[in-house]
Amino acid sequence: MSNIKNILLNKVSCKSIWFMRQAGRYLPEFRAIRSTNKDFIKLCLNSELSSEITLQPIKRFDLDSAIIFSDILMIPFALGQNVSFNKDHGPELSNLDLKLLLENNEKKFTEKLNPVYKAIEITKKKLNKSKSLISFIGAPWTLLVYMLGLRKNKYELNVAKLNQNKLLIERVLETVINYSCIHIKNQINAGADVVQIFDSWAGLIPTNFIRDYCYTPNLKIIEFCKKEKIPNICFPKGIKKKYEEFNKIVKPDCINIDADIDLVWAKEKLSGTVIQGGMDPNVLLKDDKEMFKAASKYIQTFRGIPYIFNLGHGLLPQTDPVKVEKLVKFYRNFNG
Ligand code: CP3
Repeated sequence: MSNIKNILLNKVSCKSIWFMRQAGRYLPEFRAIRSTNKDFIKLCLNSELSSEITLQPIKRFDLDSAIIFSDILMIPFALGQNVSFNKDHGPELSNLDLKLLLENNEKKFTEKLNPVYKAIEITKKKLNKSKSLISFIGAPWTLLVYMLGLRKNKYELNVAKLNQNKLLIERVLETVINYSCIHIKNQINAGADVVQIFDSWAGLIPTNFIRDYCYTPNLKIIEFCKKEKIPNICFPKGIKKKYEEFNKIVKPDCINIDADIDLVWAKEKLSGTVIQGGMDPNVLLKDDKEMFKAASKYIQTFRGIPYIFNLGHGLLPQTDPVKVEKLVKFYRNFNG
């Protein structure tokens, strides 16, 4: 059984390390491919290249898991929205047409994302059997933030828009949950071992909406995973003390903590659930001593309980790959 699957299903404590955004712009070999593939969505739909990019960090650092090179915005793309990635602006989506959205069906959706599933198949064949292949989706709320343009700016929600569009939001949420389950199932059928659900914008949700827009949609997806026996990881980023309530309600196999979460608090309040991640990715921009000190804190606090080493968010584009290599070596050799 692959490494993470074993930790998630059997709740055992053993060493396991990977990084969110481990395949990405901080790697020169990724930038080389990216420079001749200007259309990001097209690159995600190039099964051979996407598999090659997935395996780049595994070759370099011998990590325990590979995460398929794709994007959470492949779902809105497959549902008919135009998605473009413009430098410095982040992703841009065309206006959502509810009528067109509701005209989708499983067959059409699956056909559009077939290259992603093919990339998983290719990668699984090339990956050493002791390693895990992680698939992922964006949580419904996080997808909605992009699909309906719910932010005023990078860090603020357009609350008026949220209040004015409750019915539309309900409809879109329901559709997205549906297709998210299909995308998970297709990825697992193609050979993925685990699914991670990124709720990157959960921290923006006003408290009176947190149940409807964060807990319930994540719960529906986790219930689907449990029915299908799919090992799962939730990442409700930025919800602070609500991590405890989220975990009690949603009950994922594993929960990724962010850098705001106090380790000792997490160990107590999230006990029974496998914990993943937490360390601030900015730590990799500091000197070695500081980086090792921060990593030790995580390793020591979670020693003896099921814990997967990772970060509180993705690796930053300005990270030096040498630092990643040093961190992996430090983790592997850590005994104290
Ligand atoms: O290595 C991995 O983790 C696997 C691949 C992966 C990507 N995106 C590739 C990517 C994963 C897991 C994601 C998830 C994702 N995508 C999230 C959730 C995690 C998070 O970061 O909060 C979100 C919100 C997105 C949406 C998205 N995709 C944004 C906001 C951007 C542009 C800004 C940025 O962070 O890079 C992307 C583009 C993107 N997705 C890149 C990569 C490697 C950069 C593309 C490039 O410019 O070369």
